[in-house]
Amino acid sequence: MPQFISLHHEDSAAVRRELAAGLCERPPRVSPKYLYDALGSRLFEAITELPEYTPTRAERSIVDTHLGDIAAAIGTGGTLVDLGAGNCAKAARLFDALQPRRYVAVDIAVDFLRDALLALEFRHPEVELVGLGMDFSAGLVLPTELGEGPFTVLYPGSSIGNFTPDEALAFLRSVRLACRGGGLLIGVDRVRDATSLQLAYDDPLQVTAAFNRNLLRRLNQLLGTDARLEDFRHLAVYDVQRSRIEMHLEALRDLTLSWPGGSCPMAAGERIHTENSCKYEPADFQALLEAAGFQDVQGWTDAQRSFSVFHARAAEG
Ligand code: AVI
Repeated sequence: MPQFISLHHEDSAAVRRELAAGLCERPPRVSPKYLYDALGSRLFEAITELPEYTPTRAERSIVDTHLGDIAAAIGTGGTLVDLGAGNCAKAARLFDALQPRRYVAVDIAVDFLRDALLALEFRHPEVELVGLGMDFSAGLVLPTELGEGPFTVLYPGSSIGNFTPDEALAFLRSVRLACRGGGLLIGVDRVRDATSLQLAYDDPLQVTAAFNRNLLRRLNQLLGTDARLEDFRHLAVYDVQRSRIEMHLEALRDLTLSWPGGSCPMAAGERIHTENSCKYEPADFQALLEAAGFQDVQGWTDAQRSFSVFHARAAEG
């Protein structure tokens, strides 16, 4: 039977304070972590199947092609700690090659992990399974219950790109400590031409638009705002200087977003900033890993040079 550890307790007053503070900033902003309720997570899964959105398929092809090298870098029989595990499918693909002794699936809510871990237990009864419910967005601190390292932390899908480079550095430093002498396997989206990036985040089927606009429903549910979805449009903007796609919700008319205890006036054309998705040249990401205290960095890419997967060892101390 998998073991479940829940370190995340929903604090709705803290959520309301955070959302209200973000909307009162100029320009207003909402953390991308609020994109992922049940519907948002399904919309994100649909995004990964769009022909215009390539990171998920590119990462899979890199891992499939270089599985031998990746397994040689990580070694077998260890503990895998999977950040944002969701349905655990990406990590499960590594099991045959890495033969982990223990697999720790980490996600914001332990309930998201229950079904996936029970299914995994049936297929891999030899692996000790742990579900860990925690919000690691402010830094990774693993509970002492997990015992001694070393741990191999998996952070796939270029989720690191949803931090700014400064935030990513602070986060990677926390991961380096959490590895307890182990290492990190991480997927990172590469800098590409503006047109294909633009299409990946503003697809013709408008799945990404639905994913972004769903945030207005979340604001209404969590903060009690009175946002009308038809008053906002999805906008994806590529900032070439910062190599990042930004998602925004743009007001289509002058309006005031109101909630119990606050309000946010918005003129037509004003935007709520909802996500950054930073892209990295491999050499720049390697430098970031080294600045965070990782060493022996190895990297692999796909034939289209659209994505990178890195393994790096956590330096001691
Ligand atoms: C989860 N994350 C890495 C995705 C990305 O590409 O930044 C989220 C996403 N946003 C719009 N499309 C996909």
